[in-house]
This record gives sequence, structure tokens and C-alpha cells, in this order.
Amino acid sequence: MKVLVATEKPFAKVAVDGIRSEIEAAGYELALLEKYTEKSQLLDAVKDADALIIRSDIIDEEVLNAAGQLKIVVRAGAGYDNVSLEAATAHHVCVMNTPGQNSNAVAELAFGFMVMAVRNFYDGKSGTELKGKKLGIHAYGNVGRNVARIAKGFGMDIYAYDAYCPKEAMEADGVKPVDSPEVLYSTCDIVSLHIPATAETKNSINYDLVNLMPKNGLLVNTARKEVINEADLLRLMNDRADLKYITDIMPVHHDEFADHFPGRYFSTPKKMGAQTAEANINAGIAAARQIVGFLKDGCEKYRVNKK
Ligand code: 3PG
Repeated sequence: MKVLVATEKPFAKVAVDGIRSEIEAAGYELALLEKYTEKSQLLDAVKDADALIIRSDIIDEEVLNAAGQLKIVVRAGAGYDNVSLEAATAHHVCVMNTPGQNSNAVAELAFGFMVMAVRNFYDGKSGTELKGKKLGIHAYGNVGRNVARIAKGFGMDIYAYDAYCPKEAMEADGVKPVDSPEVLYSTCDIVSLHIPATAETKNSINYDLVNLMPKNGLLVNTARKEVINEADLLRLMNDRADLKYITDIMPVHHDEFADHFPGRYFSTPKKMGAQTAEANINAGIAAARQIVGFLKDGCEKYRVNKK
């Protein structure tokens, strides 16, 4: 059996070593396709793969068609919007993610962004502190919970909105649940996004919602670019010179944001939230173990597509 790790943005070497140990201990072979630049390289590499470990790599119908032996794809990470679940089901391929394994890394980066923004990108001018500020966590999943844990250390006043999370779970963490995104945005000085990109959430962060934020509001996005209505946000930041937007997922309209809003906008060049050795080890080894469990014992825990 051949397990392919196909990562356009590679894991730390220590994580790849750990994945290799797991795969080889199970008697399988590991193949690596890292930093590939053309889809044709992926199409070629998947031809004889029985299992695939990916990150944000796109797995669509064309890739699945090329992967005649493929039985399982594990997205080493949380969001699986990069995998065509319907096509995988049609090809009898199991798709899994590794929930929670990289969430602390993403949460820590959100705070790196917050400090940078409230200190005016370290330009020497007087900024503000996070202590005492109202933080809104938009979606209370694995990353949201880590954000809440760290926010307590900063002494922030923490709110969260999540239609799918029981209020009691938030309250147990010292977080104030709110009933709607509108209440979250109108209440909080800083909103940190942790929603997945789904049909329901795409473009949902729009002019009217963000415009509810109080003066000097800060929107932090370590989730997905697709959830932002970029045209709306460009228009709003033009209308309101007090708002800041910091993102780990470069917008389609990055140049317009950067040109029009210097000192109020920042994007990493490449998504960095999960790019730590620890997150790579946690998610990569979890992916390898899930593949071994699936191939040896038929374990389908963490399956995200229909059979
Ligand atoms: C995730 O969904 O797990 C994060 O967005 C990290 O994605 P990455 O593995 O592509 O960095």
C-alpha cells in the first residue's frame, strides 16, 4: 500500500519524519510530493496512491479520476472545503479531517494579529491594549475555544456566537454567549472569525454586519477568505476610516485593500495559522494513524463525506 503526502505548503521535516514512522511501522510505503507548483504533478503522483494526506491542496473530480487506487484522503487539518466530497463519495473514497490538531496554532496567530493591529503595526505611535476589550468569537469550535482560553490570560471580556454550540458549554468556559452575529458584532471591539467556508457562510461577513462594530473595530480572519464579502468590506473600510482588517488568507482583492488602507489592513502572503512544527506534528501524525486505522481495521471515525 502506498501513502502519498501531497502538500503544496509542506509540513515541518520533523512532522514528515513522524508520519513516515507511522506509515512504515504499519508496513506501508510513504511517498512525498511537496511544494508542487503544477496540478499535473499531483495528477501524476496520485496514480498509484492508496491513501493521501493533504493540507489545503485541492482534491477535485480530476484528481480523483487520476487516482484509480485511492481509498482514503485525510485532510491534515480542520477545514475540508478544498475536497470535493460528492466526487469522493462517487469514487468510493473516504474523506476525513483531523479536528482540533492544529487549533492552538491558529488561535495563537489570531492573538499575534490582534496585538499587531492594536499597536498600530509597531509604527511607534501610541496604541491600545487587549486587556478589558470586548472580544467576539464568531464560531465556538476547536479554534474558538482556544481563542477563549488565551483571551482570558489577556484579561479580555469574551463573547461568542455559534448556532451549533450549546450556550452552557460557552458559559462553562467563562464566555458570554450571544444570540446572533448581529449582537456579537455590535457588542465587540474585536471579532475573530472561526467559521468554516460552507454554502451558508460564504460571503456572509458583509457590509451591514461589520458596520455594526463599534468605533475602531478590528476584524481578524484566520478562517477562510470565502466567508468575507470582499466588495462589501472594501466599501465599508472606505466609508469608515476607523475599521481595521487583518487576515491570514490573502483576499482576492489584496492589492486594493493594501493600496487603499495602509495601516488598517494586513495579510500574510501564505496562510500561516497552522504552520508550526507542533501543529504539523499533531495533524500529520493523526492523519497517518487515521489512515492506518482505516486500511487495517476499517475505522471511519472523523469521516466527513457520505458513503
Ligand atoms: C485548517 O483548516 O486546518 C487550517 O486552515 C490550516 O490549513 P493549512 O493546513 O492549509 O495551513
